[in-house]
Amino acid sequence: MQESIRSQHDTRISTAVIAAFGGAFAGTDPLLTPTANPKNGDYQANVAMSLSKRVGKNPRETASAIAASLGTAGLIEKIDIAGPGFINITLEPAALSRATTALLHDPRMGSAKAAHPQSVVVDYSSPNVAKEMHVGHLRSTVIGDALARVLEFQGHRVTRQNHVGDWGTQFGMLIAHLDELSAQGNAWRNSDITTLYQEAKRRDDAEPAFAERARKRVVDLQAGEPTAVALWKELFAMSAKHFEEIYARLQVDLKPADIRGESAYNAALAGVVADLKISGLLHTSEGAQVVYPAGHKREDGEPLPMIVQKGDGGYLYATTDLAAARFRIQSLRADRIAYVTDARQSQHFAMVFEVLKQAGWAGATRLDHVPFGMVLGPDKRPFKTRDGGTVKLIDLIEEAQSRATKLVAEKNPELPEAERALVGQTVGIGCLKYADLSGDRIKDYVFDWNRMVSFDGNTAAYVQYSYTRARSIMRKAGVTDEAVRGYAAVVAAPEEKQLALKLQQFPAVVDSVAQSLEPHRLCNYLYDLAAFSHKFVETCPVLKAEDEATRQSRLAMCLLLADTLRTGLGLLGIGVLERM
Ligand code: ARG
Repeated sequence: MQESIRSQHDTRISTAVIAAFGGAFAGTDPLLTPTANPKNGDYQANVAMSLSKRVGKNPRETASAIAASLGTAGLIEKIDIAGPGFINITLEPAALSRATTALLHDPRMGSAKAAHPQSVVVDYSSPNVAKEMHVGHLRSTVIGDALARVLEFQGHRVTRQNHVGDWGTQFGMLIAHLDELSAQGNAWRNSDITTLYQEAKRRDDAEPAFAERARKRVVDLQAGEPTAVALWKELFAMSAKHFEEIYARLQVDLKPADIRGESAYNAALAGVVADLKISGLLHTSEGAQVVYPAGHKREDGEPLPMIVQKGDGGYLYATTDLAAARFRIQSLRADRIAYVTDARQSQHFAMVFEVLKQAGWAGATRLDHVPFGMVLGPDKRPFKTRDGGTVKLIDLIEEAQSRATKLVAEKNPELPEAERALVGQTVGIGCLKYADLSGDRIKDYVFDWNRMVSFDGNTAAYVQYSYTRARSIMRKAGVTDEAVRGYAAVVAAPEEKQLALKLQQFPAVVDSVAQSLEPHRLCNYLYDLAAFSHKFVETCPVLKAEDEATRQSRLAMCLLLADTLRTGLGLLGIGVLERM
């Protein structure tokens, strides 16, 4: 029995504790969590549930056996058994000091690169051509961008895919409308694309003859008729320019080359349907070609069809997603594909994934839908402008920046005019993104300017400020980063210990974001770290430290804090400022 307990603890507890000092620790091991209350030691292992059942002893006996066999040399100061099966582990202060000092020499803040780097496709942003990007696309853009950065940081090869909606029936009416405007000599190229879309839509709804021409122009476009294709290209370019402006303003890592829109798969759609037929998955239902993904039922219990080709020969959103997935699996050699869209598309992706599996196209590729909730207005209904229109992204960006500029000016009136704009931009964009990232993504969230652009609470500004504060202390001390990297951290005061333990958790938090694809875990971590840093700065004088060794140690802590906050915010796509 002793032997089996020993091997359990060897693989779970001690590796996790020891890993803490190699840099890769935190609450990802289900048995071991960092504690908030020093009374319970620094880390607590709960062996009451799964482990004691596995070894067939009662929880307290299990805990005692593990505690007795844990090596304590140079690492663990004491081990207490508490309650029905908790092991409270208190670290040796010198061990924590050593681990903290080691971080000064690690640009990755203890985070190891993935042992088996994967090829990961992240499908995000994906707005629709001819339509303005809206607040739903903001979520996909911000969440997808953060996930791509985290996976890349972990050493995976990330391919960003912007699956823009650039194909479909809306182009028929747009082209029909532009045909006429051009014939009238109208300078439509100077007007904006959403206005053109709205005009075309109005005519399509009201004029049957126009609607007829619009349908004909879709067929032309799909057949490659040159005038239709030329207009489509112009529309695409107008939209792409608009998207690029938004990405630049948001400081999002999406390039024109990341766009592979629906149209890119047009030529592959017939092959998808033909191959489904060969696989024996294709059925005809009411004139349409359909597949029945296993496990999906209609309300009446009948199998739920996924239409891949309409009776008139047209293909659908789902057909395009099958073609796109095949491309990503075969040509991009994706080990994993993550699709970042709102939760209303959950069933669509569940069905697409199932068909990919049934057809044998998914192979070993892991397919994840990364759903998110809706953005709500203060009235808890879908976020709209005061007159009920869709909120434009560009207006949100402008407002975030102007509010942040005002906020910063109030906090620091001495900030030179020239710096104010940059600070307003970094804080404004940061707050806008952070509000989107910091809640559990699956939940709807209420868009609230006052809460999101503020120095109080779980906001980007709060975390950014904590970085700036640490940097400003270092500036006042007149030390260079290089010099501080040569210092030794000595963890003594409780506030220092709390901070040091938190710094050790960074790698595990990053791992857990990469696993769960939930950026709010990183936000919560950074928020805690920032809160601890304020307590540290307030109770442990740095510039007026009692002796030189303490001063050096605390400057080292400031540097680690700044490095971790900058790296963490960077993974969320949020910048930091030396002054604000
Ligand atoms: N264009 C779609 C929309 O605006 C999102 C596309 C998401 N990606 C995908 N592969 N289906 O809803």
